[in-house]
Amino acid sequence: MSPMDLLATRIDLDAIAHNTRLLKELVGDTQLMAVVKADGYGHGAGRVAEVMAANGADSFGVATLREAVELRESGVGKPILAWIWSPEQDLVEALALRVQLGVPSLRHAQALVDAAVPARVTVKVDTGLHRSGVDETDWAEVFTLLRDAEHLTVTGLFSHLACADEPEHPANDEQAAAFRRAIDLARGMGLDVPVNHLCNSPGTLTRPDLHHQLVRVGLAMYGLEPVAGLDHGLKPAMSWVGRITVVKPIQPGESTSYGHTWTATEPGWLAVVPAGYADGVPRSWQGKLSVGIGGKLYPQVGRVCMDQIVVDLGANEFGVSPGDEAVLFGEGGMSADELAAATGTINYEIICTPAGRTARVYEGGVQL
Ligand SMILES: Cc1ncc(COP(=O)(O)O)c(C=O)c1O
Repeated sequence: MSPMDLLATRIDLDAIAHNTRLLKELVGDTQLMAVVKADGYGHGAGRVAEVMAANGADSFGVATLREAVELRESGVGKPILAWIWSPEQDLVEALALRVQLGVPSLRHAQALVDAAVPARVTVKVDTGLHRSGVDETDWAEVFTLLRDAEHLTVTGLFSHLACADEPEHPANDEQAAAFRRAIDLARGMGLDVPVNHLCNSPGTLTRPDLHHQLVRVGLAMYGLEPVAGLDHGLKPAMSWVGRITVVKPIQPGESTSYGHTWTATEPGWLAVVPAGYADGVPRSWQGKLSVGIGGKLYPQVGRVCMDQIVVDLGANEFGVSPGDEAVLFGEGGMSADELAAATGTINYEIICTPAGRTARVYEGGVQL
């Protein structure tokens, strides 16, 4: 962390490189699309994409056109697919930068036909998620429109699984069958669909039979398991670390932070960590978070404030002092999985939590 910063995410680029190589090896001849939407799940899309590209990622997936444009401008030369856009949006800049578009509805297909601008597109078919994706009733019409538009090149079809993190869920096989139907229909209509994809991280790790020609992997690239209890040897890349600003004594009967919701029962010590709800620490984490200091976990106590939390050091037998590092999650603290379990959410949300005044620091990364 730079001397100016009190709060930072630490991103281990060697872990990103390791995860990329591991996943690439695991999927064999299947193409690996690294999903770097939401600023690379909070890891910094441009920087991690550079490491992923150098270690086996074949292409990149993002949500929005702005994400795609920024990724291209950061120096990524490999194919980029963006799948969240509106038919009214201006597509010119993204298409000029060779961004491929997911086509999630008939209206989107029509907009691309009307725009008459050359584009490479991948049709997002709805196979049961019922979120975005071309409905089965519209498949034939969309395939016809795109097949007959000379300025459009269809690279393939894709779809998204609703329940891949529950490998036994019957929806997985139902969606797999629907996806097969879509591919067969497209090919039967003379639409060339060479590269098709269905699997996210959990699908990639648990359903090799559904890999098709490409997998779209997000969470696992960052070292987290999408299905609790599995261990593929991935390395978590993110830690969230603050620098302790104040250590002070507290006496029995004295309380800390707003509302005096926590009261000391013994003489002890408190540490203040400059991370609050303005930095992404939800108020609802009160009493659920333990902070790692010097390799030991200490409970957070009292209300989460806008800029600060308070940690109970007990008798402070290890002499915690101002300037020491306090790990909110990651190396030396609770893992993202443990914090997710403690706070009633999923590891995806935990790594997207750091915000506000959190700086970002990169470590490692020699494998470029
Ligand atoms: C369409 C699509 N594909 C792939 C992914 C990557 O998912 P995961 O992080 O589970 O690998 C996402 C993320 O939600 C997505 O929206």
